[in-house]
Amino acid sequence: MRGRCGGRGGVHQDGPMEENVMPRAAGDGGIVGRRAVLCGAAGAVGATVIAGCGGSGSGVKSVEDLRGKEIAKAADVPVGGGKIYGTEKVVVTQPAQGAFKAFTAVCPHQGCTVGSVANGLIRCPCHGSEFKIADGAVTKGPATKPLLEYPVQVKNGGIVVT
Ligand code: FES
Repeated sequence: MRGRCGGRGGVHQDGPMEENVMPRAAGDGGIVGRRAVLCGAAGAVGATVIAGCGGSGSGVKSVEDLRGKEIAKAADVPVGGGKIYGTEKVVVTQPAQGAFKAFTAVCPHQGCTVGSVANGLIRCPCHGSEFKIADGAVTKGPATKPLLEYPVQVKNGGIVVT
């Protein structure tokens, strides 16, 4: 059913997403999807609709769901940045050369899909929460919980959940 932010994500939903390493600017990757806008607006209007925005954490894959899967190619993840993959709802980062991290792309605030990675931060477009690319910790609310981290290894050039 349509209208859920957490279902297929509020932003960039299908397939691998473009690299988001540049600061947001009008007209770039910071474009907020229709559902993201609807859910963001709903937060200001009433709690009834918020329940449909993924507040229960729906859409977050467990480590078991992804174990053994290659979720990214190491060569596609920029050093000091990251890349969001909508199909698996993960964001893969490389805080330092050769050090890869993976997190859920589902925002712990109300379940929108994070929309960009820039300046060492993963940003959610719905209400502006920001998380560190190094550990998923919250640097700016309204989210109060970090992004769920997935353990990963590089195997044959791929980022694989272990
Ligand atoms: S859903 Fe509200 S900041 Fe992400």
